[in-house]
Amino acid sequence: MTSATPMTNTELPANRPTLDVERIREDFPILRRIVNGKPLVYLDSAATTQKPQAVMDAISAYYTGCNANVHRGVHQLSVEATEAYEGARGKVQRFIGASRPEEIVFCRGATEAINLVAQSYGRTHLAPGDEIVVSHMEHHSNIVPWQILCQQTGAVLRVAPINDAGELLWDEFSGLLTERTKLVAMIQVSNALGTINPVKRIVEAAHACGAKVLIDGAQSVPHLAVDVQHLDCDFFVFSGHKVFGPTGIGALYGKMELLDAMPPYQGGGEMIKSVSFAETQYNDVPHKFEAGTPNIAGSVGLGTAIDYLSELGLENVAAYERELLAYATARTSGLPGFRLIGSASNKASVLSFVIDGVHPHDVGTILDQQGIAIRTGHHCAQPVMQRFDLPATARASMAFYNTRQEVDALVSALGKVVEVFT
Ligand code: ALA
Repeated sequence: MTSATPMTNTELPANRPTLDVERIREDFPILRRIVNGKPLVYLDSAATTQKPQAVMDAISAYYTGCNANVHRGVHQLSVEATEAYEGARGKVQRFIGASRPEEIVFCRGATEAINLVAQSYGRTHLAPGDEIVVSHMEHHSNIVPWQILCQQTGAVLRVAPINDAGELLWDEFSGLLTERTKLVAMIQVSNALGTINPVKRIVEAAHACGAKVLIDGAQSVPHLAVDVQHLDCDFFVFSGHKVFGPTGIGALYGKMELLDAMPPYQGGGEMIKSVSFAETQYNDVPHKFEAGTPNIAGSVGLGTAIDYLSELGLENVAAYERELLAYATARTSGLPGFRLIGSASNKASVLSFVIDGVHPHDVGTILDQQGIAIRTGHHCAQPVMQRFDLPATARASMAFYNTRQEVDALVSALGKVVEVFT
């Protein structure tokens, strides 16, 4: 048996708090839970983030005080619900820097937003032989909708390779861009590796060959400030539950002229101006894409999560998480058999790893016994696992509410894993 030696790293910068994390943690009641007899250490924020009390209160207040359907009633509650729903759209607009609220379409999440673009924009604009470029580090939600679209249209999916650090190979990527490229769909931050992609440069290169660009921001908006006008991307998607809001709500941003010209994705109430058996006229953007009663409470929760995050300041969040990632990377690197999967020079706070001779699920199970929640598996990114010739990894993903003490608990529990299995 080998025992993991506890490590100290005096070379790391002192933990200069850019955020008062101890106080912030009080906003997240779930972080006070005891799991398997131990204080919960939640290191699975890439799967879903925890919610501040303010988000839960806002949802409760919505149902308690003004629940009604939107855009449908003249009565007071309906007016208030509509204001809350459209107010949340404005918050999303400002959060990602869109030029107007109409450019924000509420969806169930990033996955639905990508499917919307594939089926509405993609089916209208792609023809046999056209090409869609993705990277090898995409989440399944940014692969499968394009594969379906390719089957439907005869378009071809091209995959830009990544290096052993998990970074996009720029020359290979740009070599794939030709006059056949109609769409580039790229993750901004890899959920499986943590890599932060140079999305502005990607947009510029894609535009230079006439392609449109969709950025999957599901893993970026909780960690980085995003400005879609600065990026100049054509579409941007993210999920509410990854940004400290509720599940079942997310957003699609699209440039107005593109959304305006796109056909509806789903038919039903709300997305129409008039319906007769002779002719149906569709509503204006964004309502044209929001068939049926929307997730009003979800939008309220998302708006509150955005307020919460904006108050912390994404610059502060990013600075704090950078230090935490550096600390976690240094502390885990000396563990026997520990191999980091994804060591990009520009990374978000994700540690994907394997321990030689130990299946990631066993790592996850032993950590769970210590109250530590990580994700193990392929992370909905099987091509990434194939690239690294692995069936799975263990992944600790951090947010601004995590602490160095929690990283220490992770390292100590990984030491136990090594002891048990080697
Ligand atoms: N996409 C989520 C993850 O990375 C579910 O865990």
